Amino acid sequence: MKIIIFSDVHANLEAFEAFLKIADEMEYDRIFNLGDTVGYGADPNRCVEIMREREIPSVTGNHDDVVLGRYEPVNFNPDARRSILWARSVLTEDNKNYLRTLGDFLWVDSSLGKAILVHGSPDDKDDYIMTDVQAGEVFDSMSSRGVIYAFIGHTHKACYWLKDMDGGIKQINCDSDACSVKLRHGEAMICNVGSVGQPRDGTSKGCFIEWDDIGNSINFIRFEYDFSKTRKKIIDAGLPPLHGQRLGSGI
Ligand SMILES: [Fe+2]
Repeated sequence: MKIIIFSDVHANLEAFEAFLKIADEMEYDRIFNLGDTVGYGADPNRCVEIMREREIPSVTGNHDDVVLGRYEPVNFNPDARRSILWARSVLTEDNKNYLRTLGDFLWVDSSLGKAILVHGSPDDKDDYIMTDVQAGEVFDSMSSRGVIYAFIGHTHKACYWLKDMDGGIKQINCDSDACSVKLRHGEAMICNVGSVGQPRDGTSKGCFIEWDDIGNSINFIRFEYDFSKTRKKIIDAGLPPLHGQRLGSGI
């Protein structure tokens, strides 16, 4: 099957619509969202409504939890805190109720074994996986649970860690246009699908992945969109300008 997985839309309607247009043209079989649909951007309601209209299976991210009031953004930087509290004030009750229905994990069976889909880490949805050491610890817990794939977002940096048959771990960053990988029997993978609405890997292009769960290949797909429009909306809404400025550079 052709499975599309994306994450971190962050209320960026222009990027979300551009991504969905490409995904629709690819004629996927299944699609999943790894969370953080809100936060930073100026279109939280419309982005959540699209999720509801399309009935896209999703997990929650840390921004989704904060917008629902599950906890306060004490660990957010001041700009991120300001944006998420604004989103909490404008998000409709219907959209909040929809986000409340989402869980922390989703599972998919592939021809090689189980895949877990989560916002940050299979061990803790709010954890960031950034290093080989952290990835190694997660691979150990995945192995104990018979999990072959972990699909994650959260860092906004598209990359993957591959654990080979001998236990060696390597990280590959996928900040270029062409990045693909094929998993073989006996290997395991942690795949960070990047961010649709706020990439932070040095490019303005959003990112998502296409996964073939039978052939076990993954393609990272980059796309362009009109971020100047998104940037203007952020300023017009009175949100921190940085969240619009960084869309042009991906930092
Ligand atoms: Fe995020």
